[in-house]
Parts: sequence; C-alpha cells; structure tokens
Amino acid sequence: MLRVGIIGLGAIGREHLEIYRHLHGVEITAVADFNLSLAAELATGIGCEAFGSAEALLAAGLVDAVSLCTPDHLHYADAVAVMDADVHLLLEKPISTDIVEADDLVARSEASNLVVMPGHTLRFETRYLKAKALVESGSIGPVIHGYVRRNNKVSVANRVNGRTSVTFFLGIHDIDALTWIAGEKVVAVQAFSSGQTTADGKQAAAIVANLRLAGGGIVALEAAWALPEGYPTDIDARLRLVGERGEVVIDVHDFGISTFSEKLSYPVPGAPIYGAPQGMLYEEIWAFVRAVRGEIAVPVTMRDAADAVRVAAAIDRSIESGGTETITY
Ligand SMILES: NC(=O)c1ccc[n+]([C@@H]2O[C@H](COP(=O)([O-])OP(=O)(O)OC[C@H]3O[C@@H](n4cnc5c(N)ncnc54)[C@H](O)[C@@H]3O)[C@@H](O)[C@H]2O)c1
Repeated sequence: MLRVGIIGLGAIGREHLEIYRHLHGVEITAVADFNLSLAAELATGIGCEAFGSAEALLAAGLVDAVSLCTPDHLHYADAVAVMDADVHLLLEKPISTDIVEADDLVARSEASNLVVMPGHTLRFETRYLKAKALVESGSIGPVIHGYVRRNNKVSVANRVNGRTSVTFFLGIHDIDALTWIAGEKVVAVQAFSSGQTTADGKQAAAIVANLRLAGGGIVALEAAWALPEGYPTDIDARLRLVGERGEVVIDVHDFGISTFSEKLSYPVPGAPIYGAPQGMLYEEIWAFVRAVRGEIAVPVTMRDAADAVRVAAAIDRSIESGGTETITY
C-alpha cells in the first residue's frame, strides 16, 4: 500500500485528495495545511492524520509520497524538505517562480532516487497528447507561427490575490505545452501587461507575449484572469500551431456540452464515472503513482518544468523592462 500525503488543501489540493481516495493500492495517511482546522476537518472525513505544516507532516514519517499543492511562491522550501525526507514528490506547477530555485530543485531531484514530477496537467489532456503525437509524426512540420491562450475568471485572480503573476499561474501551462508539443525551446520573448487585479496594482489582469522558438517560429501567448463571473466557462484555452506542412488547433472554449438554467454555460467536463474521478488531473496523479511503483518512467521531467519557469520569468522581466529578453538554457 502506497502511503500518500497532501500538503496544501486549497482548490487544487482538495482535488488531489479526492482522486487519491479512489486509487487502488493507495492510502491517504496524512494531510497538512497552514489552516489546521481545515486539515483536521478533511482528515476526519477520510480517517487520516492532520498537520499544520509540511515539516510536521514529514516529521511524523507517515508518507511514502506527497502532492505539494501550496501557492506558487512557497513551493521551493517545502519541496526541498520533502526530498530531504526521502519522500516521492508530485509538485504542482510552476515548480517555483524563481529560476535559481527551479534549477536547484532539478539538481536535487536528479541526485536522488526519488520520483519527483511536476504537475503540468496539460501533459495528461487527450487533445494536447494528440497534438504532440501529430507534430512528432511529422505531419505538421516545423512551426512557422502559432497562438496559445488561457483565460480564467476574475474570481481566480482574487483568490490568488497577488501571490504570483498571471504568467506563472496560467501562462506556465501553455508555455510548457507549447514547448513540449513543438519540441522546441523558447529563446526570446517580448511582452506587455494590462489591467490590475489587486489593490496595490502589482498583479496584472492580462499579459500578451511574443515568443521566438529556437527554430525561428513565432508564437503569441495570452494569459489572463479578467473574464467576468457570468462568463459561460471557467477555462477558455486555445492552441494553434501552423507548420510547414499543416496546422493543429485545440479549442477548449466550448467543451462540446452546454447547459442553460439561470444562464448559458459550457461546463468543464469531468463528472465522476460511476463514482470514480476522471480527467487530466486524475491521469496525472495516476501516472505519478505508477512511476513511484516503478511501472512507468516519470513522464514529465523537472528539467522541462524549470525551462518553463525560465520562459515565464523572461516574460515578466520583459513586461518590466519593456524590451526583448533572451533566454539561455
Ligand atoms: N494543475 C492545475 O491545473 C492547477 C490548478 C490550480 C492551481 N494549481 C497550482 O496549485 C497550487 C495551489 O493553488 P490553489 O489554487 O489550490 O491555491 P489555494 O490558495 O486555493 O490553496 C492553497 C492552500 O495552501 C495552504 N498553504 C499555504 N502555504 C502553506 C504551507 N507552507 N504549508 C501548508 N499549507 C499551506 C493554504 O492555507 C491554502 O489552503 C499553486 O501552485 C497553483 O499554481 C494548479
């Protein structure tokens, strides 16, 4: 039986918890959150131990693997503590908001015998996997130009409340997906931001960045959390790559299901299948568990995740500097 813990029990941490509950051969033995009463309440529901910090959870020695689901800027210290405790780690994206920290996490993970996997969820989304396969097959050809976007509602910006930038919270998904699917690194960026979502004005509502790929292709990235609450879907995302031989387009603005009660909505799919969770996060967590069991190689590397951090950091630098930022690897 694999003993797992979840650290950080906010929006995504609770989704991890619900998925682990349904996995065969997995037992949730501990949960932790700064909000100890929240941790205690969730722990009571599943019959496990509750802690107020990652350190306390790790010191109890109850887990073989953890999901670390704390806010972006707090990942580093707890990720180091998890690896130091010899515990396998599924680390939510972005692995850090700092390049030095990200590189250090890569080095530590590569020096260990642990499974350390970044939570880049789009790597487990069937449409993105198909796009990757199409590009790999050669039917699209080297990328000439493209467009990627991810939009959320204003309430997500309010929840994050200045802890991280829209580039790191949302854009990182598409930076990683783009470079993985295209099979090319981003070598230069030029970006602008617009709007404010915090009282101090430090959190932009939207960014647009022009990305130069190593092979010469150009891709526009849009990341924003400015959609009104009444908007019909929670995730408005798109990927379009035009290559020398073809084009691939993913449009998840409309998931192919619409409902109308008080208003029109395009719900994100993911209703349980006869009680069991499904979807890309389920696939990601299941792949992590299988990697820990030695059944598959770790499907997403920390090195790729650190490269995505490099691009996101360059975008935010470009917004500050107003100039083009080059990226070295
Ligand atoms: N893969 C995805 O699709 C996806 C979606 C949403 C969020 N995320 C990522 O997941 C992480 C969490 O995001 P969220 O939206 O769930 O945030 P959230 O604010 O809803 O939850 C964070 C939780 O962590 C707790 N916490 C903060 N610091 C802690 C610490 N040091 N130790 C223990 N608990 C701590 C908070 O009390 C809170 O309950 C972020 O890195 C975010 O980028 C990923």
